[in-house]
Formats: sequence, C-alpha cells, structure tokens
Amino acid sequence: MELIHTVDWMKQVARQARAEGAIVGLVPTMGALHEGHLSLVRAARERCSRVTASIFVNPKQFGPKEDFQRYPRALERDRDLLESLRVDHLFAPPPEEMYPRGFSTSVTVEGLSERLEGRSRPGHFTGVTTVVLKLLEIVQPSFAYFGRKDAQQARIVRQMARDLNLDAEIVVCPIVRESDGLALSSRNAYLGESERRAATVLSRSLASARRMIEHGERKTVPLVERIASELAAEPLAAVDYAEIVDAETLEPIERLDWPALAVLAVFIGSTRLIDNMRIEPRAGGVVCEL
Ligand code: PAJ
Repeated sequence: MELIHTVDWMKQVARQARAEGAIVGLVPTMGALHEGHLSLVRAARERCSRVTASIFVNPKQFGPKEDFQRYPRALERDRDLLESLRVDHLFAPPPEEMYPRGFSTSVTVEGLSERLEGRSRPGHFTGVTTVVLKLLEIVQPSFAYFGRKDAQQARIVRQMARDLNLDAEIVVCPIVRESDGLALSSRNAYLGESERRAATVLSRSLASARRMIEHGERKTVPLVERIASELAAEPLAAVDYAEIVDAETLEPIERLDWPALAVLAVFIGSTRLIDNMRIEPRAGGVVCEL
C-alpha cells in the first residue's frame, strides 16, 4: 500500500489508475478505524480493482466547541489495518494540503443539511460535503463508500452527487454493531465504563420500536414515544433528538407508508452518539433494519 500525503501526487496516481482501466473505489474516513470503516473497505475491495482509502480529520466539519482537537488519531495502526485488507492507496493529507491559505469555497446541500444533525451542528454538513466533493474530485472513483451509521450524511452526499452530476456512484453499507447492539463509532472511545453500558440504550430503544412495528404499529407517534421513554429511563442519557422521518426528505412523517428512518442523537455523559434504524414497507409487511 502506498501512503500519499499530497493532492498532486494523489491526483497523478488516480489518473494513472484510470488510464490503466482500473475500477477505483474510494472509502473516505477520519481514521481511528474500526470494523465499521473496515466493512466499507471490504465492500470496495470486492467490487473494485483499485481501492483508495482516505484519512483526514476534517476541521471544517467540527463546530468551534466540538472535539476536533481531541478526536482520536491513530495513523500507524490504521495504516496496518488498511494494508492487511489490501488497500492500494492511503490518502492522508495534512490540513494545509486540503485547505491551503486563501481557501474560500464551500458546497452546501440546502434543506437536507439543516435538519436533525444539521440543526444541532450548524455548518457541519457544509464541511462534510465540501471535503467529500474535494476527495471525489481528487480520486475520481467509480464508487465511493459510506456507512448508514451516518444516514443523513449518506443521504446528503447522494443528493450532492445527483445535483452536481458527479460520476461516482455512492454506495451505502449497513451499520456494524458491537454484540450488545452499540453501533461502532470512533467516539465510543470517549465513553467511561458505566457510560459504555448506558450507551446500549440507543439501539435498545430502536429495537423496541421495531418490536412494536412487528406487532403491527404503523403510526409514528406511539413509536417515537416508546423510543423517548426508553431513553428517558437511562439516567446517563440526555436526548438531543429522536424522530421518525421520511428516508428521502428527512422530514417527520405520521405513518410508515414509505421508506423511513428512526434517527437518534443522544448524549451519554458528554459524548454525543447517533444511531438509526431503516424502516421499509414491503409487500408482506414492514422490514426494520437496525
Ligand atoms: P468517519 O466518522 O470516520 O466515518 C467514515 C465512514 O465510515 C462513514 O461513511 C461512516 O458512515 C462509516 N461508519 C462509521 N461507523 C460505522 C459503522 N458502525 N458501521 C458502518 N459504517 C460506519 O463520516 C466521516 O468519517 C466523515 O464525515 C467523512 C465522510 C470522512 C468526511 O470527512
């Protein structure tokens, strides 16, 4: 695996790959890799003849009071993991390479970026879409891989790709969870022992909503109430939002008549965690994917 730090070199390598007829897959990350990230790499490895992973802790997607400085960084370990999965190129630029002096452009997907995570983290998605567009331009992949763990991010990136006629196909992969249900996240490293136990309340609350759906509930109000009451029962948890929204528009819905997402953001102590469940009406009933 080749480690690449500059935009120019990454572009040259990517250009060469395309000239050779390679099918390039890109897996953008902020590092501190876990099985969630690695599942995206495996998906890329399966489909693409050349895999590029990127590690860039993107300052533009962190708010002024957020955890940019303390965000976990583990480049050596990440490099070994990616190498073992036969990644071809690791693009890990320093901040001044992505945002040189005078950098002044940003990309915003309007509407979708203002809801849910966007309401709690103003400017966050502009930071995400700006850096993702840059990465797609630099690497020019045929496929770019994202996790449903960040369902709103995946939806917004898809919208950007559609609106800007980008060549890359955006592939969204399932959520990887710990055996007790907690969705893997680099931020789980912030949790103390009792917080780690409390953090299972996110997926547990979604699983109870799933049980109600399996028993025939189709109205969202009782489902959201159940989720909220489970979350309220956990003393270490403070809810930022818990909603059931249309999977396309991310607007709240009243009934489960089309694909939806149950989405949560919850503080466990001072650590903010997100989780979601996809809810899909099918001919034979409603399928919930945690
Ligand atoms: P990061 O949080 O490092 O996540 C990188 C990718 O891994 C994202 O697409 C995310 O959805 C996916 N991922 C994280 N945890 C996952 C899990 N438990 N299961 C499946 N996929 C998971 O998301 C970002 O970085 C950044 O916003 C980025 C897209 C790289 C732009 O800076």
